[in-house]
Amino acid sequence: MTTGRHNPGFSGARDKPEQAIGIFDSGVGGLSVAKEIRALLPGEDLFYFADSRYCQYGEKTPDFIRERAFAITGFLLARGCKMIVVACNTASEAALGALRDAFPAVPFVGVEPAVKQAAAYTKKQRVGVLATALTLAGNRFSALVEKFAGGLTVVTQPSPGLVEAVEAGKLETEETEALLKTYLQPLLEHDVDVIVLGCTHYPFLRPLVEKIVGPEVKILDTGKPVARQVMRVLERRGLLSSRQEGGEESFFTSGLPERVAPVLRRLWPRPVREVIPVD
Ligand code: DGL
Repeated sequence: MTTGRHNPGFSGARDKPEQAIGIFDSGVGGLSVAKEIRALLPGEDLFYFADSRYCQYGEKTPDFIRERAFAITGFLLARGCKMIVVACNTASEAALGALRDAFPAVPFVGVEPAVKQAAAYTKKQRVGVLATALTLAGNRFSALVEKFAGGLTVVTQPSPGLVEAVEAGKLETEETEALLKTYLQPLLEHDVDVIVLGCTHYPFLRPLVEKIVGPEVKILDTGKPVARQVMRVLERRGLLSSRQEGGEESFFTSGLPERVAPVLRRLWPRPVREVIPVD
């Protein structure tokens, strides 16, 4: 892969701890994870790759997603990233194991639906999970449920259309609310007291989810736990940046920057200078 313009922040000569953390997702969803990493580690440089040209992964085959994950990881490593965060549940399900096997020296952190946290929280022993069909059908997800929620009722709900809504910046429209209601209603009918947002796009819909389910239902996502895991892994490997502040972000996309940049700017809490196209 080549960038359309230049590679800001790239310096092969920098020491590893001062190099960037690479983060990717099928689109802008992984920003919900990147935001938490930014908040916890303000001195780290972040390279975020939105694979918008191929969004959504939930509609692709696991083989295709693995191919994309390898290409993006190669791109980020070539720019000196010291770690890769797979900020996508679907890509973590499809590709994380293969990535770890192929790049044994590289620290990877993936994401998974917050089933463990939900199991610890639920009083009714009933948990709802919203995610892509691919995540819900995967081995990683069944192993997660078996390990942490074996004795519980886990109601899963594939949610087509929500990723598109976030990618289009339709975070609080009536249309998105109506769609969300169709997915949340069955969970409420099962009387769950926890709902897991098992796709990194969904935390951007949290205000609507809260409005629909009300204050009695706990909503969980994994942004903060993943950020803490990133910190632990970097610490353990001696790769934490010595800077306490001043970390910068660079944004790349396989999609059209003129389409991706407006929504990315809306979702990212700091000014975004540019979104760099990658062929
Ligand atoms: N953010 C991705 C996830 O967490 C979205 C999947 C997709 O592109 O379908 O699963």
